[in-house]
Amino acid sequence: MRLLVTGGAGYVGSVCAARLVESGHEVTVVDDLSTGHADAVPAGTRFVQGDIGEVAGTLLAEGFDGVLHFAAKSLVGESMVDPAKYWQGNVVTSLKLLDAIKEHGTPRLVFSSTAATYGEPKEVPIQETAPTSPTNTYGASKLAIDHAMTSYAAAHGLAAVSLRYFNVAGAYGQFGERHATETHLIPLVLQVALGQREQIQVFGDDWPTEDGTCVRDYIHVVDLADAHLLALEHATAGEHRIFNLGNGTGFSVQQVIETCRTVTGHPIPAKISPRRAGDPAVLIAASDRAREDLGWKPQRADLAGIVADAWEFTKARTN
Ligand code: UFG
Repeated sequence: MRLLVTGGAGYVGSVCAARLVESGHEVTVVDDLSTGHADAVPAGTRFVQGDIGEVAGTLLAEGFDGVLHFAAKSLVGESMVDPAKYWQGNVVTSLKLLDAIKEHGTPRLVFSSTAATYGEPKEVPIQETAPTSPTNTYGASKLAIDHAMTSYAAAHGLAAVSLRYFNVAGAYGQFGERHATETHLIPLVLQVALGQREQIQVFGDDWPTEDGTCVRDYIHVVDLADAHLLALEHATAGEHRIFNLGNGTGFSVQQVIETCRTVTGHPIPAKISPRRAGDPAVLIAASDRAREDLGWKPQRADLAGIVADAWEFTKARTN
């Protein structure tokens, strides 16, 4: 297929663009490089630097079979202090993209939604039918785009798929997580192992979980990328389908740190700190729908393997 990948210079977008090229698709990456990196755009793609809201129309006029929309602002904390960045950067930009898709009759859209659309879960594991009640502006902005996709699919025949990511981690060779402002647990812990940071702060040990630290569902970025390829194949005209992507297994912050100690051989000092605002205690995905409807089978669910891939990537970047 001829595909437009927005945000293909970012973490998940670059891994996905690389997998799409390997699978024989023709890929154009569009990214404004506000958080992505030009050298992360995979070889074999065409790269256009620009704001999606401005360039999507011109690009889609060329005729594409689908869009994979990764480009977004994605820091939960920032979304609470600078909401305009999220309503403008995520919602307004995505509406412009949707209008370009409609105008040029692009048949498919696969969108990076998030577990943050659910908010504090009432039941774990979280099903796609769970109520959506985001606790932060980031999640609310992604949910707004999900709603827009539902109505564009119904009214204009778009084949739309939203993939709700849980905690994405790991790397794919040279493609991995490189955020200027790093807030995610595994890359921060690996920075300690590299000697770039003295210790890792554990945000609360008084949560209602087995060891008192928060539990998350970590998914390998390659398994996540492969779900996008399946979503493209299974997208159906006039329908908006939503799938959770996680392994269905939870690991606590302490378990993640312990796994990083084993993988890196570094003692990784940890300090118990106050809880971080907005953190739910437990987020685990029920991803039966993706397994049944898309035939998705995660191949890299082992946490030590996920951490090992992130570690190889992190070490190589500092050499
Ligand atoms: N954590 C620490 N110390 C740190 C960083 C994180 O203890 O220095 C803890 C957090 O409190 C949380 C867990 O590690 O309990 C995972 O935190 P991350 O920041 O790595 O990931 P989140 O679960 O907060 O966020 C992920 C995605 C978001 C998405 C969110 C849905 O990265 O994009 O899930 O709730 F919005």
